[in-house]
Amino acid sequence: MTTQEQESPTKKSGTVIKESYYEPHYLALEKQRLWPRAWQMACREEELTEAGNYITYDIGDESIVIVRSPAGKLNAFYNVCQHRGRRLARGCGTAQRLRCPFHGWQWDLDGKNVFVTQRDDWGDELNEDEIRLKPVQCDTWGGFVFVNLAPDCEPLETYLGEAAKTLAPFQLDKMRFRWRKWLIMPCNWKIALEAFNEGYHVNVTHFRLAQYGATTFHVSRTHGIHSMFGPLGAKGTQQPQTITPTTANAPKQVAEFYGYLKKALDSNMTDTILESARHVAENAPNDLPRAQAFQQTFQMAMQDDDARGVSWPKLTSEQLLAGGTDWHIFPNMVLLPMATNCLGYRARPNGDDPNTCIFEVYQLERFPEGKAPRQVENLRNDDIYDEAFWGEILLQDFQQMEGTHRGLKSASYQGPRLNPIQEKPISNFHRVYQEYLSRP
Ligand code: FES
Ligand SMILES: [Fe+2]
Repeated sequence: MTTQEQESPTKKSGTVIKESYYEPHYLALEKQRLWPRAWQMACREEELTEAGNYITYDIGDESIVIVRSPAGKLNAFYNVCQHRGRRLARGCGTAQRLRCPFHGWQWDLDGKNVFVTQRDDWGDELNEDEIRLKPVQCDTWGGFVFVNLAPDCEPLETYLGEAAKTLAPFQLDKMRFRWRKWLIMPCNWKIALEAFNEGYHVNVTHFRLAQYGATTFHVSRTHGIHSMFGPLGAKGTQQPQTITPTTANAPKQVAEFYGYLKKALDSNMTDTILESARHVAENAPNDLPRAQAFQQTFQMAMQDDDARGVSWPKLTSEQLLAGGTDWHIFPNMVLLPMATNCLGYRARPNGDDPNTCIFEVYQLERFPEGKAPRQVENLRNDDIYDEAFWGEILLQDFQQMEGTHRGLKSASYQGPRLNPIQEKPISNFHRVYQEYLSRP
């Protein structure tokens, strides 16, 4: 090994600057060069169904308010009063005008100022254009609303590229929130995301999953600035290796597997799938092969869902393989798409503290037309040891995030040595991250 390689242990498998996880300098650079330039998911369209619905998305020092205009258009603005700079809206709600609580100036939902308290005091001094709300680029994909602060940014479709095309068959736009949770996590936002951007940890961190049979090897791929992993098995990659548990009763074990997922995550499955697995376990012969137990479960779930008005998209095996397990949409979105549901994560810096982040988890599902819950409360719980609230699987991930953030600051540690096959999403993330940060 050359001296240069000794000094640069990450050279072979992707370079991560470990200080970027905790030095305030990097957080400041992110505020300056990353967040104002990257498309980022602000909310779901389902949160803005009626004219006048608004929601805020805070990132770095900025807050963005997204509104549904009377014409049905989604508009995004910097959430700041053009009088003295007070932040305008908080959280979400419905209003026909945005009104500043300080001195009462008002804007319509297209950003035009429609009221200045005692305007005559200014004479001719106020210019219509100057006191408009300042616009932000806004577009939608998959039922998500994205914003970009750069006026000359590339279109969202170009930005998402192959990721959007590969995920299109999953029809995420037809899903709705079933549950949402968030917390202030004791780690940098990148560490939080990276705990979900690879499958290498699954059989160790989530050791109970292995007892039900699991993929032991996850192939990862980059798609431009985005990445994914899954049991891909496509040309040029290794075939997935799996643990197949020895059991005399595969149908029972499949039902136990979904029962465990329900309790430990309440995602990567739906109640229909769990019910179907239980039905198969009760009715199928004990010696039914495992693959068929899964197949029967899915067939029954599809029929039961169809009967209640939930139709699954017709996904080919190629589309399922390409969709894989988990996607990282740069910079801060993770999606685990399935036929009838999708687990999602979002991580953001928490103010000026690089050692904590705002971390959100949600489950999207298909519902019968008009039956999706109207408002799904975003529940907060900062206790990363509260298993009853978070479930065993997230709790296991949370411990790794906290432990990693603490550990990597050690003077003895040079930086991540990423698995070149299974942890590509992390090296790709940092490649793109550093490109953004190095652009003046
Ligand atoms: S700061 Fe908003 S009206 Fe004065
Ligand atoms: Fe995990």
